[in-house]
Amino acid sequence: MEKKEIRVFSPGSIGNVGCGFDVFGLAIAAVGDTVTVARNNSGALRILALDGDDSLPLDPAKNIVTVGVKAMLSALQSPLGFDFRISKGVAAGSGMGSSGSSAVAGVFAVNELLGRPYTQDELLPFAAIGEQRASVQLHYDNVAPSMLGGFTVVRSADPLEILQVAVPDNLYLALVKPGVVVNTGVAKKMLGESMPITRAVAQFGNIAGLVVGLQQQDIGLIGRSVEDFLATPVRLQLIPKFNEARAAALAAGAAGFNISGSGPALFAVCAGEGTARKVLAAWRKVYQDDGNASFYLTRPDTEGVRVVA
Ligand code: HSE
Repeated sequence: MEKKEIRVFSPGSIGNVGCGFDVFGLAIAAVGDTVTVARNNSGALRILALDGDDSLPLDPAKNIVTVGVKAMLSALQSPLGFDFRISKGVAAGSGMGSSGSSAVAGVFAVNELLGRPYTQDELLPFAAIGEQRASVQLHYDNVAPSMLGGFTVVRSADPLEILQVAVPDNLYLALVKPGVVVNTGVAKKMLGESMPITRAVAQFGNIAGLVVGLQQQDIGLIGRSVEDFLATPVRLQLIPKFNEARAAALAAGAAGFNISGSGPALFAVCAGEGTARKVLAAWRKVYQDDGNASFYLTRPDTEGVRVVA
């Protein structure tokens, strides 16, 4: 074991990217969690500090960072203990991949300290166990982009098969997080068990269109394709001023718009930074009465989780 202490940064992400429910994910550079991990001699996992979100538990059996690590150490039959200092840069319940970012940071950091017994792909199931603590149902569309960076596709969750698709250089995202919290588990339970075939066919078209749009670096096609007929029509009621935000984004030149993950954050697909700035200016007007709204201008994070110290 080389290092005794390590600090990692794990980016947040846009789950679903509109049409790809539980399948598509896009890492974003604007937000992320920083976690410092050190070996201890107690043989236990301990959270010594947690800043950035007072609502999260310090109990290692409940915190998403340590739940995944516990599963990983158990699989390795490792008796080792670790201390964690967590700095949350992605707010829980924001729809910007908070739990995925935390879960990835924990397992990645400990894996590094252990001399990399697992590849990053192999770490994903442990991160997903941590993520599941927050969202009830297992899903990989946030942990995969936080771990690997860029745009990821969960081709199959069982057996796990993750694909990566390159993103265009001029792809910018504007995001707004209205001042409400959405619990992913609750937002998942809102969805029905089935979908009419006509809507499913439209969804398949968008799913294919989004992947082709990425490959052809066609931001217009990407934007048209992020429309979702599965979760968005149900979940939009959770998000203040969803319709106004959508109209404002498109009027400001966005190529597309949707909910980030299970919300409340919203994202707009933009060709270039100038358009993204116009969208944010329009949203500041839409949400001028929401003192807790936050605004982000970002590019995809193409690197994924990494060691920073
Ligand atoms: N894909 C999941 C959902 C989580 O929409 O419920 C997204 O962050």
